[in-house]
Amino acid sequence: MSVFHDFDVLVIGSGAAGLSLGLQVADTAKVAILSKNKLHQGSTSWAQGGIAAVLDNRDTTASHIEDTMIAGAGLCHEDRVMQVVENGREAIDWLVKQGVAFTKETDVKKDIFVDGDYHLTKEGGHSFRRVIHATDATGQEVQQSLEAQARNHPNITLFEHHMTVDLISNRDPDPEKRRCVGAYVFDTKKGCMDVFRAKATVLATGGASRVYLYTSNPDGSTGDGIAMAWRFGCRVANMEFNQFHPTCLYHPETRTFLLTEALRGEGAYLQLPDGERFMKRFDDRLELAPRDIVARAIDHEMKRLGIDCVYLDISHKDEKFIKDHFPTIYKRCLKLGYDLTKQPIPVVPAAHYTCGGVMTSTSGLTDVANLFAIGEVAHTGLHGANRMASNSLLECLVYANAAAKEIRTLVKQTAISTKIKPWDASRVMDSDEDVVVSHNWNELRHFMWDYVGIVRTTRRLQRAARRVDMLAGEIREYYSHFRVTPDLLELRNLVVVADLIIRSALLRTESRGLHYMLDYPETDPTMEGRDTILKPPRRPSDR
Ligand code: FUM
Repeated sequence: MSVFHDFDVLVIGSGAAGLSLGLQVADTAKVAILSKNKLHQGSTSWAQGGIAAVLDNRDTTASHIEDTMIAGAGLCHEDRVMQVVENGREAIDWLVKQGVAFTKETDVKKDIFVDGDYHLTKEGGHSFRRVIHATDATGQEVQQSLEAQARNHPNITLFEHHMTVDLISNRDPDPEKRRCVGAYVFDTKKGCMDVFRAKATVLATGGASRVYLYTSNPDGSTGDGIAMAWRFGCRVANMEFNQFHPTCLYHPETRTFLLTEALRGEGAYLQLPDGERFMKRFDDRLELAPRDIVARAIDHEMKRLGIDCVYLDISHKDEKFIKDHFPTIYKRCLKLGYDLTKQPIPVVPAAHYTCGGVMTSTSGLTDVANLFAIGEVAHTGLHGANRMASNSLLECLVYANAAAKEIRTLVKQTAISTKIKPWDASRVMDSDEDVVVSHNWNELRHFMWDYVGIVRTTRRLQRAARRVDMLAGEIREYYSHFRVTPDLLELRNLVVVADLIIRSALLRTESRGLHYMLDYPETDPTMEGRDTILKPPRRPSDR
């Protein structure tokens, strides 16, 4: 039996974007925030580095805009970059009001690069120290503060272990009047399918880096929002631009984790096993070149020398400085037998951030009325062909704010749709071969890593396209016969995202930013400013 829940605003996703949006509309609207796992298990909590914003009087918005545009390699939308950068200080002030305790200058070794109270660090592509942070666990601090506020808000109801399956439309035959009226949501603890009816629905589901075998992201980064929006008839853009973070721990027996770029910002070197500081052969900005350049350089050296990893070394810095700035990473590495203060740490690149996504307006609205997308799920035009470090949490906050303004008005003018049918599970049964899901999941992530990774060729992409077609067929069939499970739902979304990435990559016959093609190694000036926009083939139907 489906349970029906009615809310003014349905927020799907409980990271920085979703929680900020929820908090900003909750004074005038009844809000549901859904999380497919625990609230804190999304990507926000894993963010280490910080939030880029112009907070030092010697820095300028013009400089932050210029750095972002340079990193974005000709595909940033300048109006969106300005929108995000110009609202940076306000976004940080709002976070401080929510209780976020950023690292203060007095908390760390005193240096000159501070504005008032807060310590600002530097990351790749930034020409100024402008990354505000909470030591090396910024995301965790932001998540905990916003979560505490949301838990205490009388108008916000939090639903953990609720996984959205698909969005629901009002089925108006007139495309102009079509709108989103809610979502089918699988309660993974009770095993039942609920219906959430809402005046406005917001996708804040994060990115899709788990489509790759190695990723710095948590398990939930399976592109759910991108796949749902695509099935719902929304356009997506620039899916070929997946960012690989250059420095994730390499440890054969442990899951990889991020070693923040702030380490390089504070002086860490990249080295080969013989100690050579190889970045000097690739870029004048050395370890602080934009991420695409650093990740490709590492990939190149690993392939050239047949080595499993390169090394990140900050041991030349003062021991107390390292422990003060990077307490989380220091402790985590030490547990695995690596002392950051004494030795180089083995690192490899891993999938980190989805720069493309669901196309949205300046207020986060998608192609379908009453459906918004904010945060990593969205393509706003900020990141272009390569996201600059620490711009993404800022984007979450600025777009949560912009969407909240529009949603406050929208909920006053909209009625909840009462015409939604319950979920129909009458024609499906329990699966007797879960191996299909686990096998296809592994296969997908392996070929995406091998054929659609840091360096691509047309042939490899075509090979991946054939495989993804086959998997998509199998998964469609499986989905139509068997009862849903969380793994099946995630795989169903991942295969959509993989297909979108491959198709976008095949359309970009040049190398630009994060998209590097061996058979098209040059940037094509005629493709400057041209996003790769994919349109869904037809209007979808609700199950
Ligand atoms: O290296 C980092 O701390 C990552 C920052 C980011 O992806 O923005």
